[in-house]
Amino acid sequence: MSKTYRAAWSAPSNIAFIKYWGKYPGQIPANASLSMSLDACSTHTEVVAETIPFCDFPEIVFKFEGKEKPSFLPKIEQFIRAILPEMKWLTECRLIIDSRNTFPHSSGIASSASAFAALALCLTDIEQQWQGNSQNAGFFRTASHRARLGSGSAARSVYGGYTVWGKPPVIAGSSQQFAVPFDDEINNELADLHDDVLLIDVGEKSVSSTAGHGLMNGHPYAEARFIRAADNLHQLTVAMRSGDVEHFFDILEEEALGLHALMMASQPNYILMRPNTLAAIERIRQVRRSEHLPVGFTLDAGANVHVIYPHTAEQSVSKFVKAELKSLCANELYICDRIGQGPKPNRHEQ
Ligand code: DP6
Repeated sequence: MSKTYRAAWSAPSNIAFIKYWGKYPGQIPANASLSMSLDACSTHTEVVAETIPFCDFPEIVFKFEGKEKPSFLPKIEQFIRAILPEMKWLTECRLIIDSRNTFPHSSGIASSASAFAALALCLTDIEQQWQGNSQNAGFFRTASHRARLGSGSAARSVYGGYTVWGKPPVIAGSSQQFAVPFDDEINNELADLHDDVLLIDVGEKSVSSTAGHGLMNGHPYAEARFIRAADNLHQLTVAMRSGDVEHFFDILEEEALGLHALMMASQPNYILMRPNTLAAIERIRQVRRSEHLPVGFTLDAGANVHVIYPHTAEQSVSKFVKAELKSLCANELYICDRIGQGPKPNRHEQ
């Protein structure tokens, strides 16, 4: 008789402070990265697995916001193919995946991190039910490893707070296969950060991150970048532990601009920043210099600007964002987010 298993998880989006840019086969990162998981921006996914007689590849139905979305299937099938060797039970089921984001799909906010993290958490949860186990200590690590096979940055989205993926010598227990939380002795001032995401350009990106990673193969600055990233990660953790806010913003912004410099020096080269990206950056730097507001920025592989500041400066920075940065956003839209607690099982949906 056919059996049905269900799991529902929400997983956060994350913003990298030290960027993962460049990878080796098997989704192995060229350098270690460090990110902050967000609170408001997340993906909610429910997976129903119905047992069926053995087949080579599971039948998959994918729904996005309640409607079937066959255009997303190829990426999901590629992910299932990558995890199949270690999740053989998938060949005995039909999967119905239902997913939705808390942020607009076309906002330019990377959804693959939260999407693959939520999916990996659901499948790892169902695997435990299938095997009759209760959630074990390695649950999140296993989910992180699997999420990585869907999208590298997704490995970091199975935790809250700050997360490291890759193997920097300064982080004990870190790995290229999965991310680990980075939470030791962070100074209070930098332990609780906000991220106001300025939606500068909400269209589809002209070059995907996956294509951008590919352009790091044979990139003239690749080797120097990987050395610099390792050094920046070390420096950033020192600044986060000591509470050196100025040094923290220095590294944060160098990483963001360095990422875009790599794109601008790729073959073919490309530019994802828009004029208003630069205008926002200039205003943020100016206000930090002239009014000593503790505010800085980082960028994703897109035109949006992530305005980063400590919770203690919330009132003054929010006022500045509203007065001077809001008008630079498409339709004056921006998302107020902050560091989040991490994934949650959505038991009520089961
Ligand atoms: C600039 O994780 O989206 O956001 O592994 O090919 O899915 P794939 O790429 P992805 O790359 C993220 C790049 C980045 C930096 C970061 O998040 O570390």
